[in-house]
Amino acid sequence: MPIAIAIDGPAGAGKSTIAKLAAKQLNFIYVDTGALYRTVGLAATKNNVEPKTSEEIDELLRKIKVELTFNDKNEQIVLLDGEDVSSQIRTPEASMMASAISAVPAVRAYLLDLQRNIAKTNNVIMDGRDIGTVVLPNAQIKIFLSADPEERAKRRYDELIEKGMKVKYEDILADVIERDYNDSHREIAPLKPAEDSIMVNTTGNTLKQSVELLIEIMKENM
Ligand code: DC
Repeated sequence: MPIAIAIDGPAGAGKSTIAKLAAKQLNFIYVDTGALYRTVGLAATKNNVEPKTSEEIDELLRKIKVELTFNDKNEQIVLLDGEDVSSQIRTPEASMMASAISAVPAVRAYLLDLQRNIAKTNNVIMDGRDIGTVVLPNAQIKIFLSADPEERAKRRYDELIEKGMKVKYEDILADVIERDYNDSHREIAPLKPAEDSIMVNTTGNTLKQSVELLIEIMKENM
């Protein structure tokens, strides 16, 4: 049976960067499930659908095709109706839309099998908000990764500035706090640690320290 490692936690805790590097070292496939919610969010934006109008969301989900593939370097690529949208989904607007759309039950149901199917046939490190609690409740290892909001905002700010985007730290911090609130207060699959999660706080760690810590935890528990 393939091995599944679930990594959940709030936005900007470094989940994706850390999980990606750990997956490379362990030769696992890294799955970023946030990208799927961002893709549905992008589809909603493109089709002028408000996340609150459930009939329109249902219709949208019937119409679109979201696919997850991997390139020859095992990097994840998300396709919306056949188009690679992996870069388009990385803007602050797409983040907010993803957060809103991820609270819609039909969207979560729509993406569930897609996520589970990948773990059926591959050793995966899957990152998200509800991987240990809902998507892969039988994952062999569950890690809940967090860091203080200010540090998470600073990391995201640096990332976006490096990409050449014009953003303000205060706006990013406000986004982080708002998204934390939305993600942990929604009724369906809220962000919370699974009972059997290993809690890891990366505040003050370098990336290298966090990756080493995670690999150590994974190897100990595998
Ligand atoms: O990890 P991210 O920032 O790319 O996630 C984008 C949004 O999607 C985030 O607001 C929470 C939501 N999400 C979710 O609800 N469940 C997941 N498994 C992954 C992401």
